[in-house]
Amino acid sequence: MKQKILSLFMLVILIIFISACHTGKKDIETAKSQDVKTNTQIGDIDKKVEEVLSQMTLQEKVGQVSQVDIHYLMKKQWEKGGLDPKRLEEVIVKYNIGSILSGGGGSPDNNTPIEWVKMVNEIQSYTEKTRLKIPIIYGVDAVHGHNNLKGSVIYPHNLGVAATWNPELASKSASLTANELYASGIRWNFAPVLDVSMDPRWGRTYETFGEDTYLVSVMGRSIIEGIQESGKVAASAKHFLSYGAANNGQDRQSTDFSDRTLQEIFLPPFREAVKAGAKTVMINSGDVNGVPVHSSKELMTDLLKEELGFEGFIISDWEDVRKLEYYHKLVPSLEEALTVSFNAGLDMTMIPMSIDDIKTLEELVKSGKILEERLDDAVRKILKVKYEIGLFEDKYGDENKAAELAGNEESINTAKQMALESLTLLKNENNILPITKEKKNILIVGPVADSKRMLCGGWTIGWQGADEKDLVLGETILQVVKKKEGINVIYVPNYEDEEKVREAAKKADMAIAALGEEPYAEYEGDTESLDIAIEQQKLLHILEEEKIPTAVVLVSGRPLTIEWASKNMDAILWAYLPGTEGGSAIIDTLFGDYNPGGRLPITIPKNIGQLPITYNSRQTSNYDPLYPFGHGLSYTKFQYSKISIPDKVSAGDNLRVSLNLKNIGEYAGDEVVLLYFNEMYTEVIPRRKQLAAFSRIHLEKGEEKKVELGISQEQLKILGHDMKWMNKERDIQIQIGDIKKVVHITK
Ligand code: BGC
Ligand code: BGC
Repeated sequence: MKQKILSLFMLVILIIFISACHTGKKDIETAKSQDVKTNTQIGDIDKKVEEVLSQMTLQEKVGQVSQVDIHYLMKKQWEKGGLDPKRLEEVIVKYNIGSILSGGGGSPDNNTPIEWVKMVNEIQSYTEKTRLKIPIIYGVDAVHGHNNLKGSVIYPHNLGVAATWNPELASKSASLTANELYASGIRWNFAPVLDVSMDPRWGRTYETFGEDTYLVSVMGRSIIEGIQESGKVAASAKHFLSYGAANNGQDRQSTDFSDRTLQEIFLPPFREAVKAGAKTVMINSGDVNGVPVHSSKELMTDLLKEELGFEGFIISDWEDVRKLEYYHKLVPSLEEALTVSFNAGLDMTMIPMSIDDIKTLEELVKSGKILEERLDDAVRKILKVKYEIGLFEDKYGDENKAAELAGNEESINTAKQMALESLTLLKNENNILPITKEKKNILIVGPVADSKRMLCGGWTIGWQGADEKDLVLGETILQVVKKKEGINVIYVPNYEDEEKVREAAKKADMAIAALGEEPYAEYEGDTESLDIAIEQQKLLHILEEEKIPTAVVLVSGRPLTIEWASKNMDAILWAYLPGTEGGSAIIDTLFGDYNPGGRLPITIPKNIGQLPITYNSRQTSNYDPLYPFGHGLSYTKFQYSKISIPDKVSAGDNLRVSLNLKNIGEYAGDEVVLLYFNEMYTEVIPRRKQLAAFSRIHLEKGEEKKVELGISQEQLKILGHDMKWMNKERDIQIQIGDIKKVVHITK
């Protein structure tokens, strides 16, 4: 009885959660009522902003819209050597800088929580010497935990987060991270990445939530809400717009794609981010059809600020205003680059290694090339965010708190849960997994077996990843498996030593091959091949020749082309970049202490010849990948029954689908229920299918639950010939599990 009440209670919670998550209309209503409540507060902030703005000199204003990197303030710049008081005096007191960032690796020489707070507080203290004492907003890329800081928990990177299909957990990790940032005096997180991944050769694939615009939107919203939950830290939805359209997977290279793709694929996550109240937006370093976004009034002002109604401020990406001159060759000088960009709607420039831009900006306003009203507009938006996050009242970090939070228990547990939920079982022949007690001698081999840095990937302590010795938390796969009782671990440290591998394989009952990629970030991670490194392929061939049952654990930030492995290996578990708790999550899963429930947020192609390949391409294009979007196996089986889909739905109503889900296998486990739809006949060739809703459900062995999912009218709009979104009377087809049903949408 108790259990029944409990499941009923959980069902109600689930329904509430699903409707909150998936009904655009409700969100708007809640947002509206919140607006009313906080109106007086907003009015107060506006007044304060105007008061400060009215006192600011031109010099103070141009400083306010500028941001430099921490390395610029270090005695030896890129080599660090501590903060340089002369530089601080110049940048903060003389030029009144509005913001400072730590790009990847921009940490204090002694990278401890206390030293971070000291560094940020020292910077902040210089604002006391300025006339108006406007606090600096300090920004970092805390993209999977407080990842620049030694000793913090490293969460999975976004691609793995997407594979959990658990937006609540994503939100929780973002809010825990924001608490750590706040304690450090850092009030701005350059996250989440809302780029939709179109080509896995791109070095930033792991930073995305994959290839589906709806999944990206839901995850993005959750992370923004998590970051901003305490009201102390601002999020930055990035990189607006279409950064994922990396041509041939090359970062920041020129792109060419249709307006339809922009509207249908790249824009929705930003629309959602604006609705979720993201306080800042960072601009795409590349271009849209030949026009750098940093120079585009159409995209920054007309689309983002006016059409989407974004009220926060826009920050450039790294050195991107200057790039309009030296990289994009749009204009011949810094003067013109700044003019074009600010007049197009930029509000703050990430300079980041000079102050010439501030001086130049001042001249441009004096000469009228940039109107002072435009500058005021930018300053106003920046000050407003600073007030909204309470920076004026409380601008210093707290050393004790920061030290207490680094590596805290709750973060470790959350990171572990995320890593567990992300792991995606691609293949499991003859149920070789979970590893049973009869298998006593386990060979463990491969470059990731004893590596934490490979579990964490790029943007971990350093920009291009961490040194092994700097990762103080977590354990490697090997360290965890060694602690397991009742098994004999046979480890071959040098996986390229063929003789040793063969010898060990002969003694073992099965092998775990831990393969993957070296850490990388941004363009340094672009690649022309998606193959597993040749030495690692060789290892697999040896294991196959030795006829030893092998489970491959793949630790990579993007889909790799693993066709041979998928034919010849017994099991493949994709771990993405699972972070410091990845080692233990992998072992728990391999040995059945956890039942994998992750599902692919991105297609795994057979080979690079299939690129570009996404599940939602138009139905006239081929989709025959190695593993499709949404794929993922479990140790148990789920049964879908009583699927209820209406015959018709009228415009203005949400389409509701329900079903009973039962665990009919031998293990407790999670099923991710995915609801898709596709157009039947319409004026644009239908996409094969489009994800419209999802829910991750946990079921004990034998347990059954009712699941309800909904599609909002907003989601059912189509982009017509005339490039206008509309509701239209027509048939669509709903797809859930193996069931397909046509639903008529009436006027
Ligand atoms: C990246 C951004 C990042 C910024 C600051 C840029 O190179 O594109 O995503 O926020 O650096 O580190
Ligand atoms: C990165 C920064 C990094 C810098 C180093 C930028 O592109 O985004 O985080 O520190 O390059 O050159």
